[in-house]
Amino acid sequence: MDLHIYKSKLEKQIGGTIKISGAKNSAVAIICGCLLTDEEVILQNIPNIYDITNLINIIKEMGHFINLENNTLFFKRNKNKKYKFNDSLNKLRGSYYLIGSYLGFMKKILFKQCGGCVIGKRPINYHQQGFRLLNVKIKETKKGTLYKTKKLIGNLIKLQFPSVGATINLLFASVLAKGNTIIENAAIEPEVTDVINFLNSMGANIVGQNTNRLTIYGVNKLHGTKYTIIPDRIEAGTYLAIGCLKPNQPVTVTNVYPQHLTSFLETLEAIGHNVTINHDSITVSMGKTLSPVDITTSPYPGFPTDLGPIITTILTQVPGTSTLTEQIFENRFNHIGDLNKMGADITILNNTLIINGKTVLNGGKVDCHDLRAGASLLLAGILSNKHTIIKDIEIFKRGYEDPITKLKFLKIVTSIN
Ligand code: EPZ
Repeated sequence: MDLHIYKSKLEKQIGGTIKISGAKNSAVAIICGCLLTDEEVILQNIPNIYDITNLINIIKEMGHFINLENNTLFFKRNKNKKYKFNDSLNKLRGSYYLIGSYLGFMKKILFKQCGGCVIGKRPINYHQQGFRLLNVKIKETKKGTLYKTKKLIGNLIKLQFPSVGATINLLFASVLAKGNTIIENAAIEPEVTDVINFLNSMGANIVGQNTNRLTIYGVNKLHGTKYTIIPDRIEAGTYLAIGCLKPNQPVTVTNVYPQHLTSFLETLEAIGHNVTINHDSITVSMGKTLSPVDITTSPYPGFPTDLGPIITTILTQVPGTSTLTEQIFENRFNHIGDLNKMGADITILNNTLIINGKTVLNGGKVDCHDLRAGASLLLAGILSNKHTIIKDIEIFKRGYEDPITKLKFLKIVTSIN
């Protein structure tokens, strides 16, 4: 399926207000965390996106009751003892959270390779080092990797890197362990804090949220809960970027936590764009005088790697030379070839982009290589003075809920066919 971005004959005003959905990277984790209790769990503000649909289907195939209706998810674990997963795990990266949650649920899981974007090798060695410290044996078999333990025992875990995935997976594997666990150099992304708050709402005893040192006091059982997940800061940043594209065509996003976007918003202001922050909404509009900037992505609260492709398109419109250095993933520049094909002037130097502006973008046919690369090209299509076709847009729908409707609210004419 291709996304077509049409150019209106008249220079139509774009911009408007849209509501942000629940955070993909919280939802994929917290849905797996539901396996840690045999009581009913209700989750609200769950985004209706492909990664969630795929995860729901995997969990259904394992025999559990799970249903998503109007962004509310109902979950009830089945006592069945199936623990062998099939091949559908490779449809999303977040399926690896089933390892930590199944270890907490039934102390074993046979797990095949998880999926994810092509943005890097994305090994799970930090996760596995932590599992071993929690008394888990890990064995490669012909059918996949077998994770097994007689008893989860708390321990001190020092992460080599503040990995979001490893931090969350080790939280799942340690909440029901015997004794206490300390995770040092833990990730502090808002999605990690969301998982901690969710687990504590089920009776877990985790302290240190928003710090790099987490202490998990093992408990015997977790009870059911009703929990609302946080808004998606990356979706918010993606749509706010549209407000920077054309003069006097502001974009407002509601149902958002501005404090989760500080680094991104400060960067927009450093470029010269206008940012107005209210309690749970943000408005961005294009500034009159724009200046180049040098950005380096880093773990939270630094500039988020997921908004790197999005800010890159904005910087093609800034006079002068800007740079973006990517420090988290080794292959996050899949969109640069297509942006240059559209008329951008970007050079890749190792893990740094050298972005010369201001360039005129001319539409054309481009590929959506990964989720955020697709977002970068969408922005470029809106900027272009000619028709743009983005191929394989299904990847985009992995992480953005109902994009066509939201873009329509911003008076951007698109179609998928
Ligand atoms: C999560 O990925 C997000 N995905 C990513 O969002 C996000 O970019 C990333 O965190 C950083 O914020 C989900 O939550 C599903 P990491 P994750 O573990 O957990 C390396 C999006 O577009 N590493 O913090 O995989 C890893 O290869 C996606 O929504 C190891 O080497 O990120 C990467 O280079 C993209 N060994 C770096 O660390 C490990 O065991 C950061 O990875 C784990 C990670």
